[in-house]
Amino acid sequence: METRIDEIADRVYRLSTFVAAAGPPAGFTFNQFLIDAEEPLLFHCGQRSLFPSISAAAARVLDLGRLRWITFSHVEADESGSVNAWLAAAPRATAAHGRVGCAIWLTDAADRPPRTLGDGEWLDLGGKEVQRIDTPHVPHSWDAGLLYEKTTGTLFCSDLFTHLGDPPALTDGDIVGPAIAAEERFHFTSLTPDTGATMRRLAALEPRRLAVMHGSSYSGPVAPALEALAGYYDDKLRQSLRANLSPTQEEL
Ligand SMILES: [Fe+2]
Ligand SMILES: [Fe+2]
Repeated sequence: METRIDEIADRVYRLSTFVAAAGPPAGFTFNQFLIDAEEPLLFHCGQRSLFPSISAAAARVLDLGRLRWITFSHVEADESGSVNAWLAAAPRATAAHGRVGCAIWLTDAADRPPRTLGDGEWLDLGGKEVQRIDTPHVPHSWDAGLLYEKTTGTLFCSDLFTHLGDPPALTDGDIVGPAIAAEERFHFTSLTPDTGATMRRLAALEPRRLAVMHGSSYSGPVAPALEALAGYYDDKLRQSLRANLSPTQEEL
């Protein structure tokens, strides 16, 4: 098992482990992101089984004794599974998550008390600054949220734009088509009346980079990609309502 390291924006490092057995035959990457700053931050912990490889890669980027923040989008093995292993390896680090996630899981599960981040709250990392954005059910889970880093314009978008295979660390090519193909295969996104609107709210930030959890990160035009993905989910919701509402409800 090899975890590769690529700098996808200034002092933003992608740690990528390709797992051929996940999503066969193309396989699947599991990516974590390290922001190197005065107070370094990790986004995505990775599964416990990947921790030895991921943490060894992280230690090649920076001394884990410096790691200050451990964050993720939502509770799931690849997002938060190894949170306590990170807390043990990084004695200065605090796990941080949104209000819902702390309330329903992290406060109980973490070996040290977590820091609760409000929707829209900024964390000054010293040279880098991140904002927590609550995105309930986008990509999935009640506690979901994303991070936006201001100096590099990077949106850490978790499972949004998930695509298969082991593509380059960074691309400016099409990621919308591959993301739709993955959605059609796995149906991993919670489709709600707010799905498209939440993605358009992210587009309004006008990010310059997407840090994608599964697949390539993206340096092309981000807002149009988010708008296109939002449109796809809007269409999916309309089709589902048409197919499933009774005629009487439809008239309403
Ligand atoms: Fe997920
Ligand atoms: Fe994921």
